[in-house]
Amino acid sequence: MHEQLEDFFRTVHSRTLNTLNKSYLLPVDHDEVQRSNIHHRLVQFVFAGRNYVGPVKEVLQFGQQRRVLDLGTGCGSWAIDIADEFPRAEVIAVDLAPIQPRFVPPNCTFELCDLDQWNIPYPDSHFDFIHARSLHIGIHDYPRFLLEIARLLRPGGLVLLVEPTLNPCPPPALQPTMPGWTALWDTYRACLRRQLIDVTVPERLPDLLMATAAFENITVRDGNIPVGFWPQDPHLLSAGQLQWMDYELFLPALRPLFLCNGLPPSTVDRLIQDAQHDLYHPSFPPSTLLHIAYASKCY
Ligand SMILES: C[S@@+](CC[C@H](N)C(=O)[O-])C[C@H]1O[C@@H](n2cnc3c(N)ncnc32)[C@H](O)[C@@H]1O
Repeated sequence: MHEQLEDFFRTVHSRTLNTLNKSYLLPVDHDEVQRSNIHHRLVQFVFAGRNYVGPVKEVLQFGQQRRVLDLGTGCGSWAIDIADEFPRAEVIAVDLAPIQPRFVPPNCTFELCDLDQWNIPYPDSHFDFIHARSLHIGIHDYPRFLLEIARLLRPGGLVLLVEPTLNPCPPPALQPTMPGWTALWDTYRACLRRQLIDVTVPERLPDLLMATAAFENITVRDGNIPVGFWPQDPHLLSAGQLQWMDYELFLPALRPLFLCNGLPPSTVDRLIQDAQHDLYHPSFPPSTLLHIAYASKCY
């Protein structure tokens, strides 16, 4: 029996969610696609206009068949950009929902897959480069997920992990706090913990890579990102604007997750409004952290 497009979507508390993994409660709708696009542009700023850090060009040498895998691709912008930059590489990008564009480079394919399962359905040593960005809240056992990445990579292949902190904009010492903002992120982390998601993954990417004993040359490139319109430097200002837009879309996207965790609607609305207030009127120049690590699979 053929699945219809609508079989992959369901409506939960007025937002569109995926059906493949019912514990992933962030939307997969137009606003979330837009947020994924903004996030992509933001990370490009952090990577000085590129789509990666690390020895990607060396790993994807021209003249040979090379394979790239993008895990939790979202709107697919990263996979499309990589396919354009490396036209001889075959780029496969997977997600829970078919929210990617239909017209894409010929070497780019989108597939549906729940990565929160035992086996990611590709052969051993199949890929040269694997990228997973802003995905860990959809993965219950991140150490096992890293072992799967190791299985899928050829020896010498490269993994690039990028995860935003789940504790953004902590107030500097002796500065006023942003109570609405803090309450929302505390609640978000509490809901994820209730769903048995490890909220410490972003800070521990290098340790987790090390613990697999499957990777070498583990390199950390964490990025500090301003939030909002306060930077004077034009480059930082652009990054701050993009991060601000990302968060502005993110706050209401948490509604289904909060409600499904049993929070009363009035509490959820208040949490989001108070966090929005702090985002619009911060009491100090806020900034946040992007955790970035890359490593090679051991020979
Ligand atoms: C916050 S978005 C990030 C999208 C993209 N990686 C980016 O950085 O712009 C997270 C994406 O991961 C996908 N995702 C979450 N859990 C997943 C899972 N278990 N299997 C496959 N995709 C998953 C979601 O559907 C969503 O599109």
